[in-house]
Amino acid sequence: MKLRTCPRLQPLKESIRFLTRKPAQFSDGSRICKRTFAGHTTAQQACDALVYNRHGHYDDVLQLEKVLLPPVGDEDLRIKMLAAPVNPADINMLQGTYAILPPFPAVGGNEGLGEVLEVGSKVCDAKPGDWVIPVDAGFGTWRMEVVCKATDVIPVAKDIPLLSAATLGVNPCTAYRMLKDFGNLKPGDTVIQNGANSAVGQAVIQIAAGMGLSTINIIRDRPNLKELKDKLKSLGASLVITEEALQKPEVTNLFKDIRRPKLALNCVGGHSAGNLLAHMEYGSTMVTYGGMAKKPVPVPAKALIFKDINVCGFWMTQWKRNNMHDLSEIKAMVAELAEMVRRGQLSVPTCTQVPFPDYKVALDATTRAYSSKHVLMME
Ligand SMILES: NC(=O)c1ccc[n+]([C@@H]2O[C@H](COP(=O)([O-])OP(=O)(O)OC[C@H]3O[C@@H](n4cnc5c(N)ncnc54)[C@H](OP(=O)(O)O)[C@@H]3O)[C@@H](O)[C@H]2O)c1
Repeated sequence: MKLRTCPRLQPLKESIRFLTRKPAQFSDGSRICKRTFAGHTTAQQACDALVYNRHGHYDDVLQLEKVLLPPVGDEDLRIKMLAAPVNPADINMLQGTYAILPPFPAVGGNEGLGEVLEVGSKVCDAKPGDWVIPVDAGFGTWRMEVVCKATDVIPVAKDIPLLSAATLGVNPCTAYRMLKDFGNLKPGDTVIQNGANSAVGQAVIQIAAGMGLSTINIIRDRPNLKELKDKLKSLGASLVITEEALQKPEVTNLFKDIRRPKLALNCVGGHSAGNLLAHMEYGSTMVTYGGMAKKPVPVPAKALIFKDINVCGFWMTQWKRNNMHDLSEIKAMVAELAEMVRRGQLSVPTCTQVPFPDYKVALDATTRAYSSKHVLMME
């Protein structure tokens, strides 16, 4: 199944119309209902969505509201959302600190899985029942239904677990691109990463293992350290060590058995990023893709002068936008990741499923240390 491509997406669909006053009470807040509202001559469908009209803490700005769905145009799809994760970037978007910010009113959430319900008359490459994921950031996935251009989404295989499909488009894609596009890696090479238990980190471990790479995985100390180490090793991690252990002099003994890293993936920033640089190979690359510590990345002069380390960044959204003119590469990447899932090489990230109306539980957890990925379930 193919969906037609488009040159460029808008961050948030302008066609989404919001109610200015609440419609009559719905018995089940999370279900789609047909109603005729004042000011509209025809019956329009409304659905629940997590809406914000200004930036700030999610407790203050995010509200569960009814939004009206526009009619399905010739080139549109009507999609029922099935599941949508809460990622750190979603929180940054609500706070107004992310690199792209949808216009108000905005619906939260950038990633998620939907099922096609209705297909516009000119859409020939999608059918009801297909699973789709957004192409671009800013889609607004925290809602029960959406009407969008068929070209705003791409298909995802239906024979993989729902949670895998719902979490495939951002974090595994990021891990895949960083391992394929940086460091010129060959089997036997080593990758070091901090934030190794993050969703991106878990995907890095598994995709790297499939590429024949060794991984050194840095995590923060915690009460259930052994459990987490065992979990990451079961995914294929070569070594799992704490931030504290990485700073001990004896850590150099590790490199008797494993090559020094050609690639470092920095999820955290601050001292943690500096600690990665200390162990890298001459001429290696450090890619910063996250800033969880909210601290600058300290790069010692000696890392640049004596080790010639290349320090750069990666942003999946920009990569997708650079490839928007021809979606074949994005689709191929998603298809390859789905195949890894099918083969058992890429598991569902450790996650907690949260019913959509309990969204605050998921948002609270996402801002807490030592938490797992939380996914809003619309069904
Ligand atoms: N550049 C891109 O294209 C791109 C794409 C995807 C994600 N990202 C970024 O990648 C990062 C991870 O995303 P995710 O969805 O994989 O996250 P996630 O599954 O929610 O995991 C968050 C990770 O950050 C760690 N962490 C949180 N606060 C920290 C702190 N103050 N100091 C050190 N570590 C901290 C957590 O460790 P604990 O378990 O120890 O709390 C955990 O490993 C985020 O910054 C996200 O925005 C970037």
